[in-house]
Amino acid sequence: MAPDTPSAAAARTADVLVIGSGIAGCAAALAAARNDEEVLLVTKASEPEDASSDWAQGGIATTRGDPDSLKDDILEASANMADPEAVDVLVENAADAVRDVLIETLGVEFDTLGDEYDFTREAAHSEDRILHVDASTGQHVLRPFLSHLNEVDNVEILESTAALELLRHEGRVHGALLDTEPDGEPVFAGATILATGGIGDLYEQSTNPSGSTGDGIAMAFLAGAEVDDMEYVQFHPTAADVEDPFLLSEALRGEGALLRNDDGERFMPDYHPDAELAPRDVVARAVQDEIDATGGVTLDLDPLDEPFAELFPNLADRCADHGIDPDAGIPVAPCEHFLCGGVAVDGHGRTSLDRLYAAGECAHTGVHGANRLASTSLLEGLVWGLRAGQDAAGFDPEAIEYQRLQNSDPALPDRFAGEKFHRLTRVVSEELGLRRTSGGIDSARGVLRRLKGEVDAYTRTRTSRGLYQLRNATVVAILIANAAAENDESVGCHYLADETATAAESTPTATESD
Ligand code: SIN
Repeated sequence: MAPDTPSAAAARTADVLVIGSGIAGCAAALAAARNDEEVLLVTKASEPEDASSDWAQGGIATTRGDPDSLKDDILEASANMADPEAVDVLVENAADAVRDVLIETLGVEFDTLGDEYDFTREAAHSEDRILHVDASTGQHVLRPFLSHLNEVDNVEILESTAALELLRHEGRVHGALLDTEPDGEPVFAGATILATGGIGDLYEQSTNPSGSTGDGIAMAFLAGAEVDDMEYVQFHPTAADVEDPFLLSEALRGEGALLRNDDGERFMPDYHPDAELAPRDVVARAVQDEIDATGGVTLDLDPLDEPFAELFPNLADRCADHGIDPDAGIPVAPCEHFLCGGVAVDGHGRTSLDRLYAAGECAHTGVHGANRLASTSLLEGLVWGLRAGQDAAGFDPEAIEYQRLQNSDPALPDRFAGEKFHRLTRVVSEELGLRRTSGGIDSARGVLRRLKGEVDAYTRTRTSRGLYQLRNATVVAILIANAAAENDESVGCHYLADETATAAESTPTATESD
């Protein structure tokens, strides 16, 4: 197929193309617009709640004047695998970013106690430092952010639009192909910022909105960008254990709620000195162990200082909608929540490809190491979004030769992608979840490679969004499986059950070594 060279005049252009409309994409668009760039923000979302940021509950961690204390907590929660320089970028920029953008520009009214902010605490934080609005902080941040950007003259937002491929020429990214035309509509951009969010759709159950198919990671990888730490997939310990699970914020445990097994016993003190406030990976595995051993785990709200419905009205409503009686304890189970790895970026969100940036959950900044500290994701998206948007300013769009996508074969029935997705989520959930074994990881790699072969055969001649999402999910699942196979150290969210069992077996007990 001959490459096509549309004239720049005919094609859509932008100084900065942002892909994704969560907090990272919004922050990137804002920063680029403040630098007088013409910004095009494209998003698959048709409404704010299609972005994970809108679903964020607990809040946004801040430094309260002491960056070092937050830094220490992040490093410790990460199993000391976070990059200290990246953490410095986060903590040193946290207070200014929150004040400038969230408070002064968007006017977010975080909860207060008297004249002070009502800082709350979540697991593995050594102090109360989390700004929040009820337990629905995300929507109180994202919706004003989108409204604000809608009023900014040099920002155009294109909703219900997916990017299918990046446009790359000699190591530089020049924009993307959108799905607004069957063979892909080009947008030529001076710089392109990926902010496509997480990977929840790869798992049977996740706390992410549907459509979280790792698009930015897959597109960047296929264009040749480096990815990092893909094995560290974080599970939240407390999703409501119902058919359509929903998150029960760590703020509940921060306010005193306790975990009990099906025998009514509080178990977390047996697993970690910080009990319910231990790092998230530790609590998630403990909850799963207790479910396996006793049949279930509940979140006991009795110890809360104030009535649940007053402290967390939106969660009380969600429980009521699902017929859960919170007085009896809320049944919980771990659920896929966040990818700590992603497209490798530096402190300004620059990827290994020229003029390609990434921010938010699709990016690997190095801040999370092997396990993310609670309520740092909105902050990371905000800080890196702003820094990427600022750094991406100043490049002119350039039209390049590119290959149109083929859309020559008849559409596939809707169920086609659904059936393949089912195969993908089953193997990813079974073998690349909370507990892994080397045999399971290898078998997942085999299944996923075969699946990718099938999916590629179809995407060669069809451009439906469902197929591209399936392709992206498959690419990301393979990246997770490969990273898991290459890492034989059981650490943080990458928990190798066989490694751990072998280590325990070969470690002499006190009696044996006497
Ligand atoms: C929560 O509210 O527990 C989630 C916060 C987070 O994922 O950082």
